[in-house]
Amino acid sequence: MSELFGKQNRLSRIFNKSGKSIMLALDHGMALGPMQGIERPGEVLKKLTPYTDSIMLNKGILKNCYVPDGHVGIVLRISGAATIVGEDLTRESITTTVTEALRLSADAVATSIYVGTPSEHSTIRELSLLCDECETYGLPVLAVTAIGKDRERKTDPRYLALAVRVAAEMGADIIKTYYCDENFEKVVEASAGVPIVIAGGPKMDSVLDVLKIAENAVKAGALGVDMGRNVWQHEKPVEMLLALKEVVNEGTNAEEAYAKHFGRK
Ligand code: 5RP
Repeated sequence: MSELFGKQNRLSRIFNKSGKSIMLALDHGMALGPMQGIERPGEVLKKLTPYTDSIMLNKGILKNCYVPDGHVGIVLRISGAATIVGEDLTRESITTTVTEALRLSADAVATSIYVGTPSEHSTIRELSLLCDECETYGLPVLAVTAIGKDRERKTDPRYLALAVRVAAEMGADIIKTYYCDENFEKVVEASAGVPIVIAGGPKMDSVLDVLKIAENAVKAGALGVDMGRNVWQHEKPVEMLLALKEVVNEGTNAEEAYAKHFGRK
């Protein structure tokens, strides 16, 4: 048996047979509290996990609100300890041990890096050391990349690519980035082959726009979405997941998936 077996087996619970993943993110409460849409996380998980490949969440919600059925890959966020009302939302550090993540049967662990902020050094270093520790257990690490506060930088492919490459260099196995309209393929290329998934960001006014960023990201080489607000803040979250699934897994174009699940515009 290959020594990579453990990691490969875990990754196969996150990425489906087509090699893609519809990952539902509901880790937001750790910093933002009971946001609209995830006031009752147990209900959200029960309703939406049948339509997802994997879920990304913190240990408390996993332990208390998720009813295990072996169906979804579990990406356990193990960084945090900063809130929206605190001094600095980027001042995160590792909050859960790898042993606890394994005990909770995590298929991967996630931690953030905050490039271009005062927390840059500590978060990048923690990612790197976490990757070393997780390698021993064949436990994949998902790096959540974030770029400071500057709005322009957040959608600048050069900064996104920088953060993605840093995460790849530190040994991440999956990298989450934001999508940008321009040169997103350069952001994907920066990962040097490490799978990329995209976050959705704040809820968009148009479902079609959500589907289009998923379509464009996958065309540029991303392997899926790791979305939260655009799913569970939407009035039709199941339809949103089904439409995303078609776009991501089957390469259906956004307009077609929209028409099928939301009707003609
Ligand atoms: C925040 C996160 C979120 O999980 C991520 O941003 C995905 O959620 P959304 O689609 O709502 O942006 O990691 O640090």
